[in-house]
Amino acid sequence: MPLVTILDEMKKAQAVGYAIPCFDTFEMHGTLGIIEALEGQRAPGIIGLYTSMFSRPNPEALTNYVKVLSEASAVPISIILDHGASFEHCIMALNAGFTDVMYDGSKLPLAENIATTKMVVRAAHAVGAGVEAELGHVGTGRDYRAFGGQQKGFTEPDIVERFVEETGVDMLAIAIGTAHGLYDGDPVLALDLLAEIRRRVEIPLVLHGGSGLSDDQFRAAVAGGIQKINVFTNLAVLSRERMLAHAAHDDVSLHSMTAEIRLAFRDECARLLEVFGTVGAADA
Ligand code: 13P
Repeated sequence: MPLVTILDEMKKAQAVGYAIPCFDTFEMHGTLGIIEALEGQRAPGIIGLYTSMFSRPNPEALTNYVKVLSEASAVPISIILDHGASFEHCIMALNAGFTDVMYDGSKLPLAENIATTKMVVRAAHAVGAGVEAELGHVGTGRDYRAFGGQQKGFTEPDIVERFVEETGVDMLAIAIGTAHGLYDGDPVLALDLLAEIRRRVEIPLVLHGGSGLSDDQFRAAVAGGIQKINVFTNLAVLSRERMLAHAAHDDVSLHSMTAEIRLAFRDECARLLEVFGTVGAADA
């Protein structure tokens, strides 16, 4: 299927009540597993590439690899720049053919976040790409006790409408109690805050830091109005576990070892698609 922005799929998800996953990747084997899962479950999906790829040589190599596989797939797949660190990275991603970009100005003062998001929106819309921004800040799991329990950095509902209106952004990542990476402590979702934000704006809402949430928490987030869920760390953890278990066998080879990464991604992504309610959505 030709690569297209995920925004149309996101509208369908919003109307029906499921979430589209954004699975991140930085290498070949996990990417294959993600695409196998999406095809097997007949689900639309987003493949996320982190902004750090632009600090490495030849970022177009991985981008083209993901693009070729996604275009050959029988389900709608979009490619998003995840946590775009600057206006420049977003432009580089658009130039490389990403269908969507996330600009992450969540650590900046509000006025700066608004100003740069607005510029990214203008550039992305000019070439038909969608834009995600972050309001409030989703921190890292190892600091979770210091902010999660105290609701520090959570999205302030009073500024959500202004942010969406002034920037023209298409999807909004919000901070309601998740964190990136492994959690120190148990994640608690502020579902009342989600409900409040959902009441104030109509655009799709995004949950980052999916690893470590229970299936019930995912379902509650989707029921509460989240349409896009980002997951990476758990895919890496499961890949590691599978590789370590496989390494104990006698007939281990480089091929059989790297296949474990593909299988870990495939199995967990397929499972999450069931939890998110996305199975079969590509045919709806
Ligand atoms: P996790 O690695 O915690 O699942 O978060 C992924 C994410 O939000 C990427 O944007």
